[in-house]
Amino acid sequence: MKDYKRLINRKKVPAHIAIIMDGNGRWAKKNSLTRSEGHRQGAEIIEPLMDAAIDMRIKVVSLYAFSTENWLRPRTEILSLWKLLDYFFRSKIDMIRNKGIRIKHSGLQERLPRSTLNTIRHAEHETRSNNKLVLNFCLNYGGRQDILQAVNRWAGRRRGSGKITARQLEGNLLTAGLPPVDLMIRTGGEYRISNFLIWQLAYAELFFTDVLWPDFRPHHLYQAIYEFQNRERRFGGL
Ligand code: FPP
Repeated sequence: MKDYKRLINRKKVPAHIAIIMDGNGRWAKKNSLTRSEGHRQGAEIIEPLMDAAIDMRIKVVSLYAFSTENWLRPRTEILSLWKLLDYFFRSKIDMIRNKGIRIKHSGLQERLPRSTLNTIRHAEHETRSNNKLVLNFCLNYGGRQDILQAVNRWAGRRRGSGKITARQLEGNLLTAGLPPVDLMIRTGGEYRISNFLIWQLAYAELFFTDVLWPDFRPHHLYQAIYEFQNRERRFGGL
């Protein structure tokens, strides 16, 4: 594989990378492990990727950790994901804080267990003054639901009449305050957006790879950034 890291122009890195971490189940099957063990390995690989993102001076990484559609999975798998999340933050919060990472949760509160909400809120609070990298956990997240809640929130607060503007909509999204997504990466060989950050992705470059998420390494991230830099972004212009 090419040494993509060396080829990257560090002055032109994407500000916001969003990742659909797909393929944990298939990775587990391939390795004769349970699906939960696949998710666990999927969580383990996050730290070196964050180190790489910090090194590249990327400002925001959004991770699709649980979608509003993932409630359709067996209860045992869902429960194992909440357990994993608790374990992840309990065991890694000091490391996350020391690296200068700020945790953010973008997602709906409804249906999430209270303990999971508390865990993620605690992580947000503990890391609130960090500014090296925002690690945005999209947990119980759906892009359409995000747009709907933004419009409803705006409508609930508005005085008088008038139409919602793009700026007002953005200010009410679950990701309010984050820059738009520049680069979206999906692992696991599917070519879909799957209701992820659909407003925020409008002009993102898309990078799809067959690599299963637990096998995704910093050199794959560098490859995606390199490809991003070699595409021409026109934002609808010429
Ligand atoms: C998709 O793979 C993955 C998920 C639905 C969960 C993503 C969660 C992680 C990577 C763990 C990160 C969580 C924490 C707490 C840090 P899949 O199960 O759909 O895989 P498959 O398509 O191969 O079955």
